[in-house]
Amino acid sequence: MIKSKIPTNVLTELNRQLNQELSAAHAYLALSAWCASQNLKGFAGFFAKQAGEEREHAQKILRQVLDRGAVPELAALAAPRQSFDSLLAVVEHAQVMEQANTQGIHAVYETAVTARDYPAQVLMHWFIAEQVEEEAWADEAVDRVQSATCAGSLLDLDRHLEKILGTDKAG
Ligand code: FEO
Repeated sequence: MIKSKIPTNVLTELNRQLNQELSAAHAYLALSAWCASQNLKGFAGFFAKQAGEEREHAQKILRQVLDRGAVPELAALAAPRQSFDSLLAVVEHAQVMEQANTQGIHAVYETAVTARDYPAQVLMHWFIAEQVEEEAWADEAVDRVQSATCAGSLLDLDRHLEKILGTDKAG
């Protein structure tokens, strides 16, 4: 058995964030399903892609935990919110989730800085930059849905969503 090279408090934070990323994947799948049920295929596809990216984020953390001699602790995932009154409520939910995720990433980073754990700090640098992009597309999505005041403009937004929010922005 290899002894873990991760300080205990940093490992706790990495595990917490790993599960937050998995919860986000679960939540985006629910948002995708709601959009698909409303025939908003553009939003459904966009959120399905986000779900996949959140799993990749979880995988990045899981990889470091394993590489440093610890076993990742996967927690039970709570059921995501699945009922929404409007598309605006959906994108606002995504926006709040991304803001919470940024706080989670910052908490890992602050713990890693205090513990002088450089590998976790470097890993979190990637996530800190990623969260700037994640919050940017979420803010733009809320703004654009708010501006789409008639059914026609909403359908137009749905049709061109991927191009508007951009693959890179959604990365
Ligand atoms: Fe893993 Fe949407 O950030």
